[in-house]
Amino acid sequence: MFFGKKATIGLDIGSSAVKVVQLKRAGKGIELEKFAMEPIYAGRDKKAAGLNMKQLKIDAAKRAIERAGISAKFSVSSVSGESIIVRYIQLPEMPENELKNALRWEAEEYIPFRIDEVNLDSVILGKTENETGKVDVLLVSAKKDLIEEHLDIIRQIGLTPSIVDVDSFAFLNCFEINHSPGSSEVVALVNIGAEVTNINIYMSGNSRFSRDISIAGDAITNAISSKMNIDFVKAEAIKISEGAPWEQPAASSERESSGGLIASIRGTVEKITGEELGYDAQDAIAQKVIRNNLQNLLSEISRSIQFFENQASGRTVQKIILGGGSSRMKNIAPFFSKELGLPVEIIDPLRRITVRESLLSEVTAAQETLAVGIGLALRKVVD
Ligand SMILES: Nc1ncnc2c1ncn2[C@@H]1O[C@H](COP(=O)(O)OP(=O)(O)OP(=O)(O)O)[C@@H](O)[C@H]1O
Ligand SMILES: [Mg+2]
Repeated sequence: MFFGKKATIGLDIGSSAVKVVQLKRAGKGIELEKFAMEPIYAGRDKKAAGLNMKQLKIDAAKRAIERAGISAKFSVSSVSGESIIVRYIQLPEMPENELKNALRWEAEEYIPFRIDEVNLDSVILGKTENETGKVDVLLVSAKKDLIEEHLDIIRQIGLTPSIVDVDSFAFLNCFEINHSPGSSEVVALVNIGAEVTNINIYMSGNSRFSRDISIAGDAITNAISSKMNIDFVKAEAIKISEGAPWEQPAASSERESSGGLIASIRGTVEKITGEELGYDAQDAIAQKVIRNNLQNLLSEISRSIQFFENQASGRTVQKIILGGGSSRMKNIAPFFSKELGLPVEIIDPLRRITVRESLLSEVTAAQETLAVGIGLALRKVVD
């Protein structure tokens, strides 16, 4: 019914990989029928690839579409980053069209850009709690040049854009449909990619806070690369093999004290011997860099949760759902859980979706990375 005339794909053009997803209705359920993920700068130093990133994205998307055997010509895609500003404001109740007009005048107050520089969108979330005659409104603004660049990429891939969404909301859509959260659940969704982390707080069936920050997997890889004076590809391999700092809580006090001693000896050795470091010392440096970067990210997540909770009249975040390629990092869930003092789960984007048999192993191996692509594709299957 949906795919006959206007077959549409979910197209997630990340900063490290392009993911394409095509879903179809199968009886009462949904089936993931086509899929591919293609790296944008495979096996190359990212800095060397940096200059022609736009062309590399177009090429990666074309390869993904071909490998997936996709003939659809329409796409649902998304943008992300710190120039996307999401605000939650209260306005007097009025008809939807008047509200759109009112927002054009009001928006400038909430957005750090000139109104003619941005595309604006808004959604009425519902009546404001404890305040009669007012509605909560979600306001999304994206810089026009970002959207233009994105649309140009889509057209050069050979697709017609039918919806351009925001990564953070695609991730939320994927979560909502697959995890079916209860109406009283308050969940912080954290999608950690390569360049951007999307934080989105879900409450009462809607997003209530959303922010993109520029700390994600690449920040860790770049820091390892510069601290250890090795190239991006080697640093990436070290990051993946080290994982997040994590020790079994029962043994932690003893291990921490000896770890501290060893670390301080290593610190001294490092100063004395310079590049003649042994494997263990290299290991310790990598661990420290990973810990520092994850802690920077964690403090941004905490700040976001606090900001939300200060305005949420007593409602508090009950759990964290992680996703994105960087949520594949070893031990990231227990580490985040300990640091944030909240339960942490990894998103399951396939809980309500069956996968075509031939794709099963490839899809499940990358499933947390596919949440945005699946969330986008779901826009054209489920209304
Ligand atoms: N096993 C792993 N351990 C640690 N990091 C990993 C692992 N697998 C993938 N990553 C990291 O995941 C990141 C890529 O994730 P993802 O595909 O979600 O990003 P993206 O969508 O391309 O980028 P963005 O959304 O930030 O523009 C990279 O930084 C990569 O190093
Ligand atoms: Mg991404």
